[in-house]
Amino acid sequence: MHRLLVTGGAGFVGANFVRHVLERTDAHVIVLDKLTYAASPEALTDLPQGRVELVIGDVTDAALVDTLVGRLTGPDDGLVHFAAESHNDTSLRDPGLFVQTNVVGTFVLLEAARRHDVRLHHVSTDEVYGELSLEDPARFTEHTAYRPSSPYSATKAGADHLVRAWVRSFGVRATLSNCSNTYGPWQHVEKFVPRQVTTLLEGGRAKVYGTGEHVRDWIHAQDHASAVLAVLERGRIGETYLVGADGQASNLEVVRALLELLGRSADDVDHVADRAGHDLRYALDANKLRTELGWEPAHQDLRAGLAATIDWYREHRGWWAPKKGAVEAAYAERGQ
Ligand code: NAD
Ligand code: TYD
Repeated sequence: MHRLLVTGGAGFVGANFVRHVLERTDAHVIVLDKLTYAASPEALTDLPQGRVELVIGDVTDAALVDTLVGRLTGPDDGLVHFAAESHNDTSLRDPGLFVQTNVVGTFVLLEAARRHDVRLHHVSTDEVYGELSLEDPARFTEHTAYRPSSPYSATKAGADHLVRAWVRSFGVRATLSNCSNTYGPWQHVEKFVPRQVTTLLEGGRAKVYGTGEHVRDWIHAQDHASAVLAVLERGRIGETYLVGADGQASNLEVVRALLELLGRSADDVDHVADRAGHDLRYALDANKLRTELGWEPAHQDLRAGLAATIDWYREHRGWWAPKKGAVEAAYAERGQ
């Protein structure tokens, strides 16, 4: 049995990854998570407890990180770094928090990985490449220049640059993945898909920023998780792999699919205040991951994935309902 240290493993994608790893490997998983508002430790409670260990702590705590990384002594042990502040809207109001966790946190992990010579996989986002236009069919590739727009994407870009520099300058054994917008179980109700699903389940109207023409490239969380494991196990050191499932759709298209799946009128949509600096379109080409590592997404049909996600939120009302009121009150204050 080998050991994996997973930072942010109580968050949305991290928890889906931990669940995937426990199903697919015999690894012992140590989760390091600060348990911010975005965390869902509930996502880890039904797992074989002898194989998951939750350490509550901060990735910027160098002494704690050094102790935990120091436990990764086996040849197949590794570190997977999900922990981040992840909401673009929050990054506009509190950018310092994003610099601290996303940039300084990654620096602290890299230094520990360097000291203990541990393999590290850094989880990042396609948002580091900035926005694409709606007219041009171009998609991001691993060679696209970085052009982040928001404090969130700029801090993720900064972290990516640190990882690449630590590979080249210090020989740290690291890989990177930059994934597109992810949806599925355990995503916090502040994010687009769960916000719409839970609002509609409560009988409210969908809330679309501005015109709703903005395009995202959707991938299911289980596919994001399987891609990270593929890169961790088979990816080449120093390489970046884009992760996506050819799921481009505008926000209005996603909302219309949700409305139809829930038997609601296509007009049950409010166009609310737009986000400052709102990127128009993200889309990526995951060909390198598919051809080099033989990865394929299990969820190829966005509408079917959204239907399954509606069912999941319907069945997990006890988890999300207590978070919903405060999130909606904050949105209402901003006219969203
Ligand atoms: P999330 O906000 O749901 O979860 C983040 C987790 O990190 C939470 O459990 C939180 O408690 C923890 N955390 C935050 N600050 C911490 C700190 N200082 N120390 C320790 N733990 C801390 O985020 P997510 O959507 O699961 O995203 C996880 C990673 O995947 C991020 O790096 C994000 O950039 C990347 N990513 C997410 C998406 C997406 O659509 N959700 C897409 C591409 C990449
Ligand atoms: P989000 O889930 O915040 O992810 P990101 O900003 O990383 O893409 O938002 C996804 C898209 O949905 C983005 O274009 C903003 C938009 N959006 C809405 O239209 N309404 C909402 O209520 C939210 C939260 C987001």
